Amino acid sequence: MTAVLENPASEPAVGAVPSFEVTLRIRRYNPESVHGDEATWDEFTVTAHGTDRVLDALHKIKWELDGSLTFRRSCAHGVCGSDAMRINGRNRLACKTLLKDVNPDKPIIVEPIKGLPVVKDLVVDMEPFFASYREIMPFLVTTGNEPSRERIQSAEDRARFDDTTKCILCAACTSSCPVFWTDGQYFGPAAIVNAHRFIFDSRDEGAAQRLEILNDKEGVWRCRTTFNCTEACPRGIEVTKAIQEVKRAMITRAF
Ligand code: SF4
Ligand code: F3S
Ligand code: FES
Repeated sequence: MTAVLENPASEPAVGAVPSFEVTLRIRRYNPESVHGDEATWDEFTVTAHGTDRVLDALHKIKWELDGSLTFRRSCAHGVCGSDAMRINGRNRLACKTLLKDVNPDKPIIVEPIKGLPVVKDLVVDMEPFFASYREIMPFLVTTGNEPSRERIQSAEDRARFDDTTKCILCAACTSSCPVFWTDGQYFGPAAIVNAHRFIFDSRDEGAAQRLEILNDKEGVWRCRTTFNCTEACPRGIEVTKAIQEVKRAMITRAF
């Protein structure tokens, strides 16, 4: 299917943001379709403006051309992590990807992230991803009595895990990992990043337990240091480095 949204032909106002035509080629999947399990492709052409993002184009398509187009989004500002998708073959957040940065002269290919079951169009089932996340105990583990004051931590100790606190659980890393594509049982980089966040927190007492969990055959040793995860992370987290640090902690038990 190809749909085009016409731009009203008028001279741009003085100082107006320049507009341009952009075509999105979107992978569609409808579990109730007569085509059965087959995915199809649809092309839509819309008018975009200077700093419009892929998410703006998807909104325009959904609101003005095809209301059945299905994708997740919430904050639209790179905070909630709900709109990770493959854009021209790379995992990105649609709300953080400017159309002008992804060669809008050619159709922009938009697909769901890989390795997780597609529910509809660009929406995947995130449950396997969150199951791994829950397994690594993503919360502070402490023993003893409830403290009567806050748990003090030095600036240096806080800095030790600062990078991995930035995770927004978008799954861009895990769904870009070739090991995860071939083995959905692998914990995946996002779960390891979130384990790192607590393993290296000086206030936490659950590191040994988390390392035990990740010492599994589907744990950190499955990582082949491919770096796709680091390249995909929209928060700029050094994902592969964090995985290496968890591996090292497993060997030395120093954390
Ligand atoms: Fe997303 Fe980065 Fe967290 Fe992975 S580590 S889930 S890519 S924010
Ligand atoms: Fe996969 Fe990242 Fe390791 S892409 S193989 S988890 S470095
Ligand atoms: Fe929230 Fe993109 S919509 S991160």
